[in-house]
Amino acid sequence: MHSAVIGLGSFLPPRRVTNEELSALLDTSPEWIESRTGIRTRHWATPGTATGDLAAEAGARAVKSGGLSPDDIDLLILATTTPDHPCPATAPDVASRLGLGPVAAYDISAVCSGFLYALATAHAHIVAGQATNVLVVGAETYSTILNPQDRTTRVIFGDGAGALVLTARQDARASRPGTLLATDLGSDGGQKDLIRIPAGGSRRPTTAEDPPEADRYFQMEGRAVFRQAVLRMSESARRVLARTGWITADVDHLVGHQANVRILTALADHLDIPAKRAVINVDRVGNTSAASIPLALAHAAEQGRFAPGDRVLLAAFGGGLTWASVALTWPDITPL
Ligand code: COA
Repeated sequence: MHSAVIGLGSFLPPRRVTNEELSALLDTSPEWIESRTGIRTRHWATPGTATGDLAAEAGARAVKSGGLSPDDIDLLILATTTPDHPCPATAPDVASRLGLGPVAAYDISAVCSGFLYALATAHAHIVAGQATNVLVVGAETYSTILNPQDRTTRVIFGDGAGALVLTARQDARASRPGTLLATDLGSDGGQKDLIRIPAGGSRRPTTAEDPPEADRYFQMEGRAVFRQAVLRMSESARRVLARTGWITADVDHLVGHQANVRILTALADHLDIPAKRAVINVDRVGNTSAASIPLALAHAAEQGRFAPGDRVLLAAFGGGLTWASVALTWPDITPL
């Protein structure tokens, strides 16, 4: 048994936030933001909109794009760092709102690598014969966890959601469009403090003490994260290429985690893949963490960049630390 992508959906909350708007509120400038990150705009949900709302929109579109009805889905996996509540998971609520019935549904937390962790897990469920059609969603509302005073994070992250439908397939000829060919997952908890929300979990419960306000928000060591992102994504991508039997020259499209345009350029350079084969949409959506890879796929597909059968290499990196890569051939689908 093998797995293949048959549907793709995405959703951005309508509110678009420009560098100019943020520069009026923080000690930064549009020039600094664009030159250091490549980001020009990002979308933020309006207060009251939660991750599950964005996930349900993208999920419904992916199911429709795959030509399926909600009844056909037998598992939902939602990757997010910003669940609707600390408890319970957000996935069961999204499954219920999509009318999937009493299917298995759970969240995966691997920060910006979350979507590829979820995709690899969906693939494993299918290969094990446990599921036929899996809805894999990455959705985030980072606007709810960013410190309004912190210029080092506030300008970088955006909200959004993307989703793929992965289906069971008997015939896995690599030439058959949509086939998922290999995965690679890894972590290094020794560097967990590079990306963190210090308070609010069981280590420092907000009920047991009164943590400094900044410790309730997302924090990161930007420079160290930058170096680790390039190193870990390129190592993981090389492992997945070896498993697929591709060399870097075979890769038609490199879809890296949309953290920073300089990270994406450095990743292509480390892998010896021409920069023009790297998909980039961080300029318009910022870093959307677990939603980053499916949003990049959706936007590139909408622009007509992918042809069925094209060889696509996905690579992600995030807090944990975590990293992940997936190789697949592009399916013959219309994203919604
Ligand atoms: N506006 C103006 N100055 C800013 C700024 C902002 N928004 N944010 C940071 N700075 C300042 C810093 O305070 C620092 O000042 P100092 O030298 O006086 O201390 C200076 O700019 C340079 O900071 P540095 O961290 O070296 O910049 P950088 O070139 O590494 O770019 C990031 C900063 C955050 C854009 C970059 O490190 C990055 O993208 N890292 C990865 C982040 C990421 O994607 N994380 C998500 C996890 S996958």
